Amino acid sequence: MKQTKNRQWRLASHPIGLIKDSDYKWHEESIPELKDGEVLVRNIYLSLDPANRGWINPATAPHYVKPVSIGEVMRGICIGVIEESTNSQFENGEIVTGLLGWQDYFICDGKGLTSLSLFPRPEKAPLSIYLNVFGMIGLTAYFGLLDIGKPKEGETLVVSAAAGAVGSLVGQIGKLKGCRAIGIAGTEEKCSWITKELGFDAAINYKTESVRDRLKELCPNGIDIYFDNVGGDVLDTALGELNLHARVVICGMISTYNSMKPVSGPHNFVRILTKRALVQGFIVTDYFDRMTEALIDLMSWYSSGKLKYREHIVDGLENAPIAINKLFDGSNKGKLIIKISEEP
Ligand SMILES: NC(=O)c1ccc[n+]([C@@H]2O[C@H](COP(=O)([O-])OP(=O)(O)OC[C@H]3O[C@@H](n4cnc5c(N)ncnc54)[C@H](OP(=O)(O)O)[C@@H]3O)[C@@H](O)[C@H]2O)c1
Repeated sequence: MKQTKNRQWRLASHPIGLIKDSDYKWHEESIPELKDGEVLVRNIYLSLDPANRGWINPATAPHYVKPVSIGEVMRGICIGVIEESTNSQFENGEIVTGLLGWQDYFICDGKGLTSLSLFPRPEKAPLSIYLNVFGMIGLTAYFGLLDIGKPKEGETLVVSAAAGAVGSLVGQIGKLKGCRAIGIAGTEEKCSWITKELGFDAAINYKTESVRDRLKELCPNGIDIYFDNVGGDVLDTALGELNLHARVVICGMISTYNSMKPVSGPHNFVRILTKRALVQGFIVTDYFDRMTEALIDLMSWYSSGKLKYREHIVDGLENAPIAINKLFDGSNKGKLIIKISEEP
């Protein structure tokens, strides 16, 4: 039966620290009739990402995209199915992705929608993989490591948030390029998963071990590539162990995203100078025009069993504001996704 109601999460206030339920407002409205040239997309999977936290800061905070305004539907990457189309470029039943928002339905004129038929799924790959290995996550790991980290055979790669969506792929791609991969993660279970299942050479539990002592032990010749997902003390400690001509890939700084105070800079910054290191930040969107190049490799590695991943799917759009904090308390095991509705 055709649905007539659209349920949405709209931004109610800019969070102070961790996101609270009350920072979002549940809103229900009727789905309007389509105008000429429009499509109606039913959202199936919603990606919850650390970047979402930055998107809901006040406009005065530093941003790389326009922040979500109070009252606006929360921005989010989704996979959805076209249920109605008056646009000749999209057919009913087509699976698409884009910034479709924290809601059941999305209506647009087709701009910003990407049809997943352009990137056929390898056999047995689940649809949700397009929010993960074959989506923004895979591209981040791929280009961050290969373009900026420039791994070479025999080098030592260290990655933080190593059991997370991006970090777990970075370590595996590093191994494929002949590096020694050392992961830093927050639980024994995560450390064990990346070493026993993913093939990392070693893991450090930053909550129970001295990261400095363990890095000295595991990287006697220093770190050649540090892929940073967390910032803060872990970044500072890793800088202290850089090898000559190291590359530091600044991918994310999740330890700072909820901070209401200015974050102090790393004490070991002088190591960039003495070790002639390169430090570079990047945003995955910089690489969207090279998506095909990455997907060819990512799909081939996945199909031959060389890239493993896990996903943490939470059922129900209503749970999005609570579930997102899993990224910040570390209780997500793999790519965090909300299932909004059934796959066709
Ligand atoms: N530059 C880009 O374009 C781009 C694109 C995508 C993602 N990113 C960044 O990549 C990073 C990882 O994102 P993801 O989507 O793959 O998330 P994720 O790693 O799957 O989940 C986040 C993980 O971060 C760890 N964490 C949370 N708070 C922490 C803290 N205070 N200190 C240390 N670790 C902490 C937790 O793992 P533990 O249990 O190990 O603590 C948590 O599971 C984020 O910083 C994100 O912003 C950047």
